Amino acid sequence: MQYATMSDDGPKALEGMPNWYASGWPHVWLPYAQMKTASPPLPVVRTEGCRIVLADGRQLVDGIASWWTACHGYNHPHIRDAVIRQAGLMPHVMFGGLANEQALTLARRLAALLPGDLERVFFSESGSVAVEIALKMAIQYFRNRGGAGGSQFVTFRGGYHGDTTGAMAVSDPQDSMHALFTGLLPQHVNLALPTDEASTAALEQALERNADKIAGIIVEPLVQGAGGMRFHDAAVLRKLRALADRYQLLLIFDEIFTGFGRTGTMFACEQAGVVPDIVTLSKGLTGGTLPLAATVASRRVFEGFWSDDPRHALMHGPTYMGNALACAAANASLDLFEREPRLAQARAIEAQLWVGLASCHGLSGVTDVRVKGAIGVVELDRIDDLEGLRRRFIAEGVFVRPFGSVVYLTPALTIGDDELARLTTAIAKVLRAR
Ligand SMILES: Cc1ncc(COP(=O)(O)O)c(C=O)c1O
Repeated sequence: MQYATMSDDGPKALEGMPNWYASGWPHVWLPYAQMKTASPPLPVVRTEGCRIVLADGRQLVDGIASWWTACHGYNHPHIRDAVIRQAGLMPHVMFGGLANEQALTLARRLAALLPGDLERVFFSESGSVAVEIALKMAIQYFRNRGGAGGSQFVTFRGGYHGDTTGAMAVSDPQDSMHALFTGLLPQHVNLALPTDEASTAALEQALERNADKIAGIIVEPLVQGAGGMRFHDAAVLRKLRALADRYQLLLIFDEIFTGFGRTGTMFACEQAGVVPDIVTLSKGLTGGTLPLAATVASRRVFEGFWSDDPRHALMHGPTYMGNALACAAANASLDLFEREPRLAQARAIEAQLWVGLASCHGLSGVTDVRVKGAIGVVELDRIDDLEGLRRRFIAEGVFVRPFGSVVYLTPALTIGDDELARLTTAIAKVLRAR
């Protein structure tokens, strides 16, 4: 069966597809896709470990782990059993006025895992919403304390924090969708990360000038993910902590990409020895099984809401907050982090990625090869035919999905040596043939 471009082949592209696909395809709208020219998505009938099984029986080795969520591989029996058990007992009850064991257990466990006094967990159902909540928390924290309270944030070039309005506004204004939504998005102070003297001085000046307008600093610690898979040093995070303290701002770490072992430690902030005031989590939280996110606040931030005044309550409350099914999946995922050597696996992946991607150095158009934890990146000067490149990886039997100018791997932390070698070999082969 050929999976061709819809625009090349029109309805012919649907030939041989399962009925559910042919009849449903005209009614779905894909993410970030020009629907006229995008390749139709591959019909997936099953997943197993690090494999994606297509309707025609082909198996692809997955290099992305479903936008880096499936950290234990797909269909882990421990998570599956926990979800099935919870579905029989109680899939969901509202979190307003009612508590469920899975959510409270998860909150306790996350508080114990996170560094410092990050101990109050506010649940939601997606990463973008967790970021929205973090921004609202920071703004309301200062207002509750009686100050005028700034409503702007220091944000960074190359940053990505999600697609909802507030999250888009704190993402990179050039690379994100800002330009499309002019007028909708609030203005923030967007700067280069303070990686050298000049950028540090620029940040200090901006803080000096605007401190009264600013509520906080938001950053993806160590790795800016969807904005281009760019890495920075732990020293940057220590600098941001010091500046946030000096100007009395809240420091928000968005660990939605980096959390749960992706960079080799459970949370990226551990590598810097820095405790933020607020952290956002999602993606690997449920091991890639159910949508769930958390915004976790330090004791100081929580105390800013502790009052006899009802207007000081945090004004947010998603319908599916604390969903018992998703929290059961997350608890089972944390069991696996406790019982199985995930962080050692991430470090072993790091070592293998360095070796496996080394042959990409020097290939035509390759400008950088970099690895951090279970993240491998080959940066190109540019990619003209993204769809074509994606199709060539599928022809090699792997699911690798380049974006912008990067070809990257964020596999399950459980990936076998052979499967990882298939991925790195395919990348070298496809890029050599470009
Ligand atoms: C660092 C970071 N923050 C926020 C988000 C948004 O998460 P979601 O897609 O679940 O809304 C993402 C998604 O890629 C992310 O990588």
